Amino acid sequence: MPLKVLVTAQMPEQWFDPLKRAGHDIVLGKGLLDHDELVEAAREIDAIVSVLTDPIDAAVLESGARGSLRVVGNIAVGYDNIDVRRAAELGISVCNTPGVLDAATADVAMFLILACTRRASAAEYALRSGAWTGWGLTNLLGSDLEGSTLGLVGYGRIARAVERRANGFSMRVLHHTRHDSGQSGYVADLDELMTESDVISVHVPLTPETLGMIDARRLRLMRRGGVVVNTARGGVVDEDALAGALESGELASAGLDVYVGEPHVAARLLATPNLVLLPHIGSATWGTRSKMALLACEDVCRVLEGRTPKNPIHA
Ligand code: GLV
Repeated sequence: MPLKVLVTAQMPEQWFDPLKRAGHDIVLGKGLLDHDELVEAAREIDAIVSVLTDPIDAAVLESGARGSLRVVGNIAVGYDNIDVRRAAELGISVCNTPGVLDAATADVAMFLILACTRRASAAEYALRSGAWTGWGLTNLLGSDLEGSTLGLVGYGRIARAVERRANGFSMRVLHHTRHDSGQSGYVADLDELMTESDVISVHVPLTPETLGMIDARRLRLMRRGGVVVNTARGGVVDEDALAGALESGELASAGLDVYVGEPHVAARLLATPNLVLLPHIGSATWGTRSKMALLACEDVCRVLEGRTPKNPIHA
């Protein structure tokens, strides 16, 4: 009997080719499903290929477990949208897509670092709004990357890809993780990383431990004129504290690709000066997104065939 796989997001057909080749019945989500629709759909299927906006919480998983749901393959490296502990209790496998989005996401982090330090948004706005009246010796001055210090919060694959890019810009790169990386540039104390860095780039998953990790107190530790960039998850940085630090001029600039409560972006952030805002496009290239989708589908197939997935999440 063919197995039923719910693919929640719309995507080019070749991206879910592994499911077709395996002969599975594919149920395509019509646009993004809301929570109730997911609960309903989960009852009827054997697997879900999800995206990071799908709330795969206990209710969805329990509904699936009453039927025959065996695996959720999330097309994302982050999996804070999935209750992985409940999935494990119910014997439902969860997989993600690490490794294939490092370069694309690191590019966006580097782009934000450059946009912040060289005031790209303010400069473009000046030009488009007619405020630019000509070249000026002291107009729109930013800060140099060369010789400045980048502090990476987290030191996984994406952070290391950012480090490689920052080395090319002659930055000094430090990093902080909970466990000693054994690599040069390791800083055991996050507070010290904040104090030492001109630019902070966030690369940790959102967990109860990292929620609000970059808070008002830590932002105050940075040098005046510092820059904060977040391409990980919105909740890791306290958005109000960040807005406050930009409003008071303690921070020169910040760049965000991720937000608390996406796609809603807090009105205060929209009104904050010197803040570069992107709509969660870290991995958004054709090549990267197709690799992510294929990886998730391949792992779903593996689990449905009773094999071990390549990228299992352990609760
Ligand atoms: C993107 O945010 C991802 O987690 O893959």
